[in-house]
Amino acid sequence: DDDIVILGIETSCDDTAAAVLYYLFSDYLFLSIKEELLAQYGGVAPKMAAEAHSLVIDQVVKQALENANMEENDLSAVAVTIGPGLSLCLGVGVRKARQVAGKFTLPIIGIHHMEAHALVARMVEKELKFPFLVLLISDYAGSLTDRRSTSGGHNLLILARDLGHYVQLGTTIDDAIGEAYDKIARWLGLDMRKGGGAALEGLAHEGDADSIKFSVPMKQHKDCNFSYAGLKTQVRLAIESSNINMSDPISSASCLDRASRANIAASFQRVAVFHLEERCERAVKWALNIEPSIKHLVVSGGVASNQYVRTRLDHVARKNDLQLVCPPPSLCTDNGVMIAWTGIEHFRLGRFEIPPPACEPEDSV
Ligand code: KG4
Ligand code: ZN
Repeated sequence: DDDIVILGIETSCDDTAAAVLYYLFSDYLFLSIKEELLAQYGGVAPKMAAEAHSLVIDQVVKQALENANMEENDLSAVAVTIGPGLSLCLGVGVRKARQVAGKFTLPIIGIHHMEAHALVARMVEKELKFPFLVLLISDYAGSLTDRRSTSGGHNLLILARDLGHYVQLGTTIDDAIGEAYDKIARWLGLDMRKGGGAALEGLAHEGDADSIKFSVPMKQHKDCNFSYAGLKTQVRLAIESSNINMSDPISSASCLDRASRANIAASFQRVAVFHLEERCERAVKWALNIEPSIKHLVVSGGVASNQYVRTRLDHVARKNDLQLVCPPPSLCTDNGVMIAWTGIEHFRLGRFEIPPPACEPEDSV
């Protein structure tokens, strides 16, 4: 159980990421080093994305090892995202993992992307023991029970009972919250380079969240599922019926309707997050019924780097005597550390594959 060094590789969507984690003794993380390069190509055209990953993957992995002062033969295993995600993109990471592992017959650990978003919380909070409740919020995901699916829940509420034992309490019936943030940021003419979600959060600070009364999704459904398609449409209609001149980028000095856009952003954010709060509240009550020992609510995935989201869900947790665990923003968005960490979790329990040795050519005698 002591002294494990794991390389984690993540290429499921638009980040090419790798990290090396050095884990010493049963619960002490000695050193954590990562290097990520962004393969930014805007929009998800699988072939272009895969090409972008291919161009940088060798360099990203090399850099991650160098930063950790490690060589390939210092590794105990290689962990790599195998789903959900774009298969062409996943393939780039998996081939690289096989190549590195192949040289020294290292074990390979196939990682579920959403499990990694959830479990990295255990790296940052040592007190986080199973069972716990998890809210995963990003723009692209899959069901936690089908690691190869590319569709399904983009928002997930999960009861994590043990490593590899997850009960799905809720998922989105249409769009994910991250997708809604991105789409609305685009409609409002925001700068998408650092991500639509972060840009919209920034603009919302300037607006009045009470100015537009969007209705809360799924009020009549007393379950833990999510829906963001209707809210997106409400926002679209609000933009169309406003005086906003969409041909004017918000960054230009001549933009006269920045305040109206900020009001829309703030009003959307309030309702979008209120929907999360309501579903979480219900899930907490339900989960505590079957697992009264739950002490933590984990919130992770790209949207969890949003400060307003963190504050509101902290409130939900406290109200129910739970502690909120929200990884720092750099570990909430896609990264290599979460893959390496999840690799460590599985490796410690002997859950990995050792690829067969390369076949020697047969003697022709
Ligand atoms: O987990 P992630 O990095 O990638 C996926 O696995 O999908 O999540 C990306 C999503 C994007 O929709 C992005 O706009 C959103 O997370 N996001 C945010 C913020 N930062 C990233 N949404 C709202 N507020 C933010 N500050
Ligand atoms: Zn993700």
